[in-house]
Amino acid sequence: MRKWIGILLVLLMLSACGTAENSSSPTEDQKLTDSDQLYVGFVLDTLKDERWYKDKQLFEEAVESKGARIKTLAANGNDDVQLKQAELLIEEGVDVLVVVPHDAAYSAAIVDMAHEADVKVISYDRLITNAPVDYYISFDNVKVGELQATEILKIKPSGTYAYIGGAESDNNAVLFRQGAMNVLKPHIDKGTIQLAYDQYTDGWDPNKAEENMKAALKQRGNKFDAVIAANDGTAGGVIKALSEQGMAGKVPVSGQDAELEGVRRVVAGTQSMTVYKPISLLASQAADIAVTVAADKPVDAEQSVNNGEADIPAILLEPVAITKDTIRDTIVKDGYLTQEEIYGE
Ligand code: BGC
Repeated sequence: MRKWIGILLVLLMLSACGTAENSSSPTEDQKLTDSDQLYVGFVLDTLKDERWYKDKQLFEEAVESKGARIKTLAANGNDDVQLKQAELLIEEGVDVLVVVPHDAAYSAAIVDMAHEADVKVISYDRLITNAPVDYYISFDNVKVGELQATEILKIKPSGTYAYIGGAESDNNAVLFRQGAMNVLKPHIDKGTIQLAYDQYTDGWDPNKAEENMKAALKQRGNKFDAVIAANDGTAGGVIKALSEQGMAGKVPVSGQDAELEGVRRVVAGTQSMTVYKPISLLASQAADIAVTVAADKPVDAEQSVNNGEADIPAILLEPVAITKDTIRDTIVKDGYLTQEEIYGE
């Protein structure tokens, strides 16, 4: 039954993908005749958070600028759909598969399936665990968590903290939490910080983050001095919960992704920081790797990350902490968001 629901969902999604998510699909003629052109398949967990639209657009542009063609499919957070979409692209004859996994462990099946068809797999932004992934490209995700905790600690060096994490099924969420705890641990051990609430957020869902924060506030009679939220989406939920209690802007909250709404909250003072991850760099370097791998050439990766199965050759880019004072010199300067979008000027 589950299988049939999965197949039905994938069919629905493919028809929905026809325009928005599949803008670069080849024409029938190209499919049949362009056998020399390298073909990159990109499967995304979701397009829900704003950043993934940037990833999709920038990665597609970068791949196409190298003369290869690309098809992108997004699975709307459904593991079975993601597996089917990968299968479909493999059947279509992609030369390489680039995957943003919904579930780190479940997506190992994608790697097995691709390898059986002699197609290499690149883990994009999120690591697929316990599978012989060929390459991994992302940011230093432990550092993301460290930056979040460091900024919040500057504002509240002592007191009662809540940690509102991402989806535990996403390896990044585990790394973000690990980074935050690296920074908080000495303060927790000293007793200057109490971590009174510590919860992952299913599916990175902002509504769930809001519910969790509400439950935390209720449990402790609103006694929270700071919140580390794993990304701007969850921060938005947390800030809604705080604002119902008249606490928004008084309790520092972290975020990540430099989403427009997140950055606007940083300007407004209800969110203390966000983390900027230059997606254009990620997308262009991922495209370099994808096209090289598609052409069966080796890639130079200086780092490696163990994913439980092996040391996966990796490229990890630098995340940047953003506060109200640094918005213009970073995300605006890079053209990630415009001054007008942020400040309305
Ligand atoms: C990404 C974050 C994103 C989150 C939710 C993580 O894997 O690294 O940038 O906010 O997923 O989509």
